[in-house]
Formats: sequence, C-alpha cells, structure tokens
Amino acid sequence: MRILVIGSGAREHALLLGLQKDPATTELHVAPGNAGMAAISAVHPLADVTDGAATTALAQEIGADLVVIGPEIPLVAGVADVLREAGFAVFGPSGEAAKIEGSKAFAKDVMAAAGVKTAQAQALHPDAAEDEIESALDNFGPNWVVKDDGLAAGKGVVVTTDRAAAREHVDAVLAAGNPVLLESFLDGPEISLFCLVDGETVVPLLPAQDHKRAYDNDEGPNTGGMGAYTPLPWLPVTGVDRIVNEVCVPVAKEMVARGTPYSGLLYAGLAWGAEGPSVIEFNARFGDPETQAVLALLKTPLATLLDSVARGTLAEHAPLTWEEGSALTVVLAADGYPASPRKGDVLSGAEPSETVLHAGTARNEQGQLVANGGRVLSIVGVGTDLEQARERAYATLSGISLEGGHYRSDIALPAVKGEISLG
Ligand code: AMP
Ligand code: GLY
Repeated sequence: MRILVIGSGAREHALLLGLQKDPATTELHVAPGNAGMAAISAVHPLADVTDGAATTALAQEIGADLVVIGPEIPLVAGVADVLREAGFAVFGPSGEAAKIEGSKAFAKDVMAAAGVKTAQAQALHPDAAEDEIESALDNFGPNWVVKDDGLAAGKGVVVTTDRAAAREHVDAVLAAGNPVLLESFLDGPEISLFCLVDGETVVPLLPAQDHKRAYDNDEGPNTGGMGAYTPLPWLPVTGVDRIVNEVCVPVAKEMVARGTPYSGLLYAGLAWGAEGPSVIEFNARFGDPETQAVLALLKTPLATLLDSVARGTLAEHAPLTWEEGSALTVVLAADGYPASPRKGDVLSGAEPSETVLHAGTARNEQGQLVANGGRVLSIVGVGTDLEQARERAYATLSGISLEGGHYRSDIALPAVKGEISLG
C-alpha cells in the first residue's frame, strides 16, 4: 500500500510510525510534513492543506492507495470529498460530516437530535446588544465558559471564574466578527475517546486524558494540549462502553440518518460528572497529543485498519489488540507558546526516533534542528505502568535542550498519585 499522510504535527509523526510498522505499507509519503519525518517518509511540499486540487495532484503523482488526512482544517474544507471524487480511498470524514468539529452549533444540533448529554449553550452574534450580552452572562457562572464558534483547536476557549475576563473574551470574539458560544461548566475529569467510525460501526481506541493548560497544576492559558496519557486507571471498566453507547453510536446513527454518514476518526472530548459522561466537544480527527500515547500501545497493524475504514469494511475487521502497560507523551513547547511562539531557536538531542516525535521543527542552513512552531516535540514514554512511562519520557526529555523551551512536569501525575476521582 502506498500511503499519503496530510499534516505536519507530532500526531502525523505518530501516524507515520504506526503505518510504517504495518507490513502492508510499501511506501510512505507526507505533505507538508516537518524536519523529523524525512527519516521515515518522503516529504512533499504542500503550500495550502485546504487545496483539494493540489492534494489530489500529489496523490495522483504518488499513485496513493490510501490518503490519511490528519488535521481538521483540510477536513472541514472538504479535501476528503475532492480526493474521493477523484477515486482515492481516504481516511477522514467528508466536509459535511466534519462540521461536527467545524461548527459548535452543528455539533449541538446533532447531539440534541441524538439525545447525547452536553453543556447548555447560548449563542451571541456579532451584532449583539449590550443588555443581551450582560443578560447572557447572568445566565451562566460562577464558572464561565466562553467559546469562539470558529475553528480554534481549543485555543478559542476561555474558562474563568472572573466575570470581567469572560466579558473581555466575549468582546474580543465578537469584535473579530465571530459568534460566541456561552456554555454551562461541565465538572469532572476530562476524557478523550477516539473512535473509528464507518457509518454505524464504531470501534473505540484506548481512552486518554489530555492536559490542556500551559503550566503545571493546570495553570495558565488553554493550549492545543501539553501532554497526555493512556489508559486511564481511574475510569470504571465499563467507562468506554458507556461512552460508546451513550455518545458515539447515537451520533454515528444520527449522521447516517441525516444522509451524511461519518467515515474516519470521531474524537469525543468528555467530562465525567456525577451522572457519567457529558460531551465537551467533538473533533473530526485524531487528537494531538493523545494520539502519540494511544498509538504507542496499538498492536493491530495501523495501515490495514485505517484502510478498512476508508473502504467501508470496518465491521469486518478483527478486534483491536493492545500492548499491556501505559503510555504517555510530554510536549516540549517553544518560548512564548501559546501566545506568541518564537521560531528559530536551536534544538539539541532531538533527532527523531520512536520516542522523539516532531511537530514544529525545521532545519536551518547549517542543518541544525530548530523550533518552527508552538509545539515543537512530543516525547513518548511506554512502561509497565504510568509511573514507569513517566520516568522514561522525562528521562528522554532531559537529554534535549531548546532555548526558552518549556514543558509540564506533571503529565499523568494526578493519576499516578490516585488523585482523580469520579463524581
Ligand atoms: P474546546 O475547544 O471546546 O475543546 O475547549 C477547550 C477546553 O476548554 C476543554 O478541553 C475543556 O478543558 C475546557 N472546556 C470547554 N468547554 C467546557 C465546558 N462546557 N465545561 C468545562 N470545561 C470546558
Ligand atoms: N488534544 C486536543 C486536540 O487535539 O484538540
């Protein structure tokens, strides 16, 4: 199988490593890729990942048997549709189905129709009057959740107990011409559950937890994710089944009923509250950084698995198999991330490997690796338990340096200490 992967993050690096291990894979290609991927894949330029015609031309040039689309931006733009029309097998939902991530209002509508639990929400439009904004804020609190209803990959959300800060974010989003979504605050530990979805067939991967805030102890701004671990020792054994049956299957059926069946990866972001799982958001793709931990434990050959989703034969695929133990990933971010990451700082000790995954990296004129984006590396540790996985990831990280680089030292620590409890 000749495979083309679209994307340039550590998530795509993890996908490439998984695809490479499958004996069915004969050639790997990636576009636009990053400096770390050249060791395992041909890297092709792609100026604009939303350009369906350019992506199709590349797939034709390569003779791709399967195209795997990593990020949400091309999915929401309908690149999978353009490729399918040209006859390619694609892992990734259609533009219509990807609205589950691209429009929070659409996702709420699907959940309401499917009877899935989620936060109460109220929309404010850019022409909202002063009293309308203030009375909407009155309806929520003492924890305000203010979202930019555009595609912001977790970065357009402010969760705060400070009403003035909530108002400030409302104003900023409206001033940018985007609608705001105010939401009720969902309490309880967060879970990321990735499901392969092919029409009404839903196959869950291992549950993971992301760490979204920039600094230790969940302080600082929301980011795209600073680290993750899997599986979740605190989740009841029936937890994944409950999420699949109460959330993912009803949504998959609703998408089929709407005439826009889902095909690809459905990422449910949930909070586990007093009454069980409630949806925070859906994504139409693998999560980053959770994928780096989850795929580290997957034994099932990945290329054949993703290909079965792309060809509509997931229901016939054998059950997934997993390594025993735990996996964890720690993100090394550039100076200034998430507000204004600095590019160009030299990295050392960071040559790509099974455990040093690259995201925002490039090579300078001297061939040195340099930071080229907010999240620079994703370091993976696998162990018999979370504690050992942590030790291994942080040991690898201690051999890497990046001027101004920062990472969280507490990934999975509350779980290791047994501090996470369900309501
Ligand atoms: P989102 O972009 O919707 O994934 O939001 C980013 C992060 O903000 C989530 O991972 C949560 O940590 C937090 N968040 C979003 N919505 C809520 C909510 N309704 N209640 C509690 N936390 C939330
Ligand atoms: N880890 C969060 C995301 O991928 O959106």
